[in-house]
Amino acid sequence: MKTAIYPGSFDPVTFGHVDIIKRAAALFDKVTVLISINPLKPASFSIEERKDFLLRVTKKITNVSVDVFGGLLIDYFQEKNADVIVKGLRAMSDFEYEFQMALVNKDMFYKAETVFLAADAASTFLSSSMVKQIAMFGGDISAFVPEVILDDINSRLQGR
Ligand code: PNS
Repeated sequence: MKTAIYPGSFDPVTFGHVDIIKRAAALFDKVTVLISINPLKPASFSIEERKDFLLRVTKKITNVSVDVFGGLLIDYFQEKNADVIVKGLRAMSDFEYEFQMALVNKDMFYKAETVFLAADAASTFLSSSMVKQIAMFGGDISAFVPEVILDDINSRLQGR
């Protein structure tokens, strides 16, 4: 049984994340989408909101669960006896930072393997911060986030 952890800020979850979640769910027996805290990156949505959004968009994927952890990813990884950390790579611009994180995590715990999934072509330009900016100025984000969370994102961000 192979368990994967897909960590991120998910502030908010986008179609890009959903694509990685679905593909990881097809590759591994169990996937935990982990809302992790990046202390250097202030969030727009609360942990509860982000978790609620993720629960709604992953509802139909039976081997996916959602969790929250406020400490080091590697501590959670060890605590849960996980096998793999999954990350999505959109472009070369993601690579340096993601590679650095993968090496740091492996350095802290030698069994921590990071598997990178290349983003699908439609998501290469997509990021949570782009989605937030578009929504804040009243733009249409329906092509970027699942319909089940669209209204909630818009009502929280529009006019802010
Ligand atoms: O979606 P993001 O913001 O690119 O995700 C980054 C995240 C949250 C996965 C990363 O910051 C993280 O793992 N935070 C938990 C704290 C930690 O373990 N930091 C050490 C690795 S740099």
